[in-house]
Amino acid sequence: MESIDRVFSRGTGQQMISSCESAATQELQLYEMMFSAVKPMALKAAVLLKIPDIIAAQGNGGPLSVEQIASHIAAANSSSTSNSHVDVGYLYRILRFLASYGVFTEQEEADQADDADTKKIKYGLTAISKLLAQSENQQSCGPFLFLMAEKVYLEAYQHLHESVLEGCYTFNKAYDMSPWEYLSHDPQANRIFNEAMTANSSTVMASVAKMYEDGFESINTLVDVGGGMGSSLSMIVKEHSHIRGINFDLPHVIATAPPITGVEHMEGNMFEHIPSADAVMMKWILHDWDDEKCVKLLRRSYEATPANGKVLIVDAVVGGGKEAESMSRRLGLLFDIAMMVYTTGGKERTEEEFKRLFQTAGFRSYRIIKLPFLQALIVLSKSE
Ligand SMILES: C[S@@+](CC[C@H](N)C(=O)[O-])C[C@H]1O[C@@H](n2cnc3c(N)ncnc32)[C@H](O)[C@@H]1O
Repeated sequence: MESIDRVFSRGTGQQMISSCESAATQELQLYEMMFSAVKPMALKAAVLLKIPDIIAAQGNGGPLSVEQIASHIAAANSSSTSNSHVDVGYLYRILRFLASYGVFTEQEEADQADDADTKKIKYGLTAISKLLAQSENQQSCGPFLFLMAEKVYLEAYQHLHESVLEGCYTFNKAYDMSPWEYLSHDPQANRIFNEAMTANSSTVMASVAKMYEDGFESINTLVDVGGGMGSSLSMIVKEHSHIRGINFDLPHVIATAPPITGVEHMEGNMFEHIPSADAVMMKWILHDWDDEKCVKLLRRSYEATPANGKVLIVDAVVGGGKEAESMSRRLGLLFDIAMMVYTTGGKERTEEEFKRLFQTAGFRSYRIIKLPFLQALIVLSKSE
């Protein structure tokens, strides 16, 4: 093969170069933002191909070559009627991209000469890809990823600007009905949504069950309003077996909820009725609704509990001020935009915004217990 030389060229004018460089940096930042939708899609492809599970099972978490990963994918996808063809080049590009974000480790052999020689490049699990392994991993983030990458919602995002122009709900603009109504008609989207909620509850509620340990001792009956499949209550009754749980949600959700020892499933509309209990829990409920609806739910919760009763809110408390650039604030704001699309009037709130809701509903005090997650536990009391 003929050799080819690389010719270096250098521009002139130092000032011009630095202003061009700064404009180019901003353009690169913008391109990085514009291409962000690639990330969940590449992650989804990796999880659908079960790459984290393959590395966990076959490599014992240690790195496997692209060819090895490809052959396990082929074996998993071949049936008696067809032999699965796996394109190693495409697979390599997905692995390489995700490794650049720390999803996989990337290891090249020392005598590596050709960058595209996929036999010599190995990929292993990192703490991030361990969160995406699904087999026997009740705390997998895979189901939540599938919700974020679900086309029903990606389609709804196309209408975001119309919410600004018309003050309409983004999802309703796309589908002419609320997200909850939509889910009652689309069993697959309903399953994806509920599995995502279950996945989040499994991790967050294990932490709540431990961090509010003393508080649960005085609670004998606990109603989880909008409790989905009952996974939050399941985590709590597992740790605190004296508690009788009531999992309260819409009929199409309760219809697919699995039986859980110590938990009774009950269907209903929380805006009309909340069952009485020592404590009411609402996880990821207030962020689904506007202030007026939240106050209504909080008042119903107030009425449903005794004088010494508690209302437990599990929701993100978005930071402000100095926290402006922090990852948790940015994640809170990402969720806030998502709430514009996934709900009718929902939003993420600061502590001040929550406080106003609690006061308006009649609560006298609240306590915020920080959790090592996006959400915090907020305990509301009727007395000071
Ligand atoms: C964001 S999900 C949270 C689910 C669960 N609490 C969790 O965090 O895993 C909101 C839940 O509220 C339920 N929901 C919506 N409207 C409701 C209503 N009017 N009455 C009862 N539940 C409702 C939905 O079906 C869904 O399960």
